[in-house]
Order: sequence, then structure tokens, then C-alpha cells
Amino acid sequence: DTGGDVRPVAVLVGPPGAGKTTVGELLARRLGVTLRDTDADIEAALGMTVADIFIEKGEDAFRAAERDAVTAALAEHPGVLALGGGAVIDPGNRAALAGHTVVYLEVDVSDAARRVGLARDRPLLIEAPRARLAALLRERRPLYDEVAALMVNTSGRTPEEVAEDVLARI
Ligand code: S3P
Repeated sequence: DTGGDVRPVAVLVGPPGAGKTTVGELLARRLGVTLRDTDADIEAALGMTVADIFIEKGEDAFRAAERDAVTAALAEHPGVLALGGGAVIDPGNRAALAGHTVVYLEVDVSDAARRVGLARDRPLLIEAPRARLAALLRERRPLYDEVAALMVNTSGRTPEEVAEDVLARI
């Protein structure tokens, strides 16, 4: 019985604009594994975009679906896993991350704002994206710190440089 032995080689956490998807794709390619993304899993499960879920069902419904997606992906995915930026808000998700190779991609407000751009597909950042990002970074830093096995600064660095750094440290 190998049940329970499957675990992601790395789990990427961090705020929107940290580069979880871009770095995750590079990491997965270098490791010869696939990238799984809980936002994509949620969209597939509900048959709606993240933005539409927030609008039509509300953030609480999104967070409930996200809990299921995080639980399933941690138990099933042997490759690289990228979590939505807000996945760490849920204490159950934070507890579930214990013992995993969780990589916190850190970013400063300017770089996050630049990478996120107009953020039409990020419902929490439609209004005042820079101010919202600043608040998110401040509020969530302790949560990312709590779950992180290692921390990698991404500000002023290319995704390739960040991926190399992660590879050297996992
Ligand atoms: C969210 C981040 C998004 C997505 C949703 C909520 C957040 O993922 O899960 O819009 O609360 O920070 P990204 O971090 O990939 O943008």
C-alpha cells in the first residue's frame, strides 16, 4: 500500500504577483514533473472562472472550494503545486501544509503590482490594486512565514533566477 506517500516535490505560496505560476512552470520543467494549480482545480470543479465564483457565489464559497482543492492536491500531486495567494488564510490549510516542502515566494509591493498589472482576473485586486496588495502583503506575511520551509525573495529577480534558487534549496 503506497497510499499517503504521494506528496508534492514543492508547494509554492505567496501573494498575487509573487510569480507562483511562472516560477512553478520553470521548476516543474526543470524537475521533469507537472505543475498543478489550485485556482485551476477550483475553476474545473465549479466550471467557472475564479472571478465569476467571487461575483456569483462569494468569497466564502471560493474559500470552501479552495480548502477541498488544497486537501486533494496535497494528497494526490507528486509534482510542483502552486496555491492561490489566499490559501494560507484558512487554519486547516496551514495545518495541512506542515511537513511539506513549502516555498514562500516573497515580493515587495512595487514588483507585485507591476506583475499583476491591471488584474482583471483577480477579484480582490480590481479596486485600488496597489493599496490592496500592500494590505495583503502586510496581513499575510505572518501566515506565509508560518507555513514556509524556505523563503525566496523574488523582487528584482527574473523567474529563471528565482527557480534556480529554489532548485538549489529544495
Ligand atoms: C487570491 C489569489 C488568487 C486567487 C483568488 C484569491 C488571494 O490567486 O486564488 O483570486 O486571496 O490572494 P493568485 O495568488 O494566483 O493570484
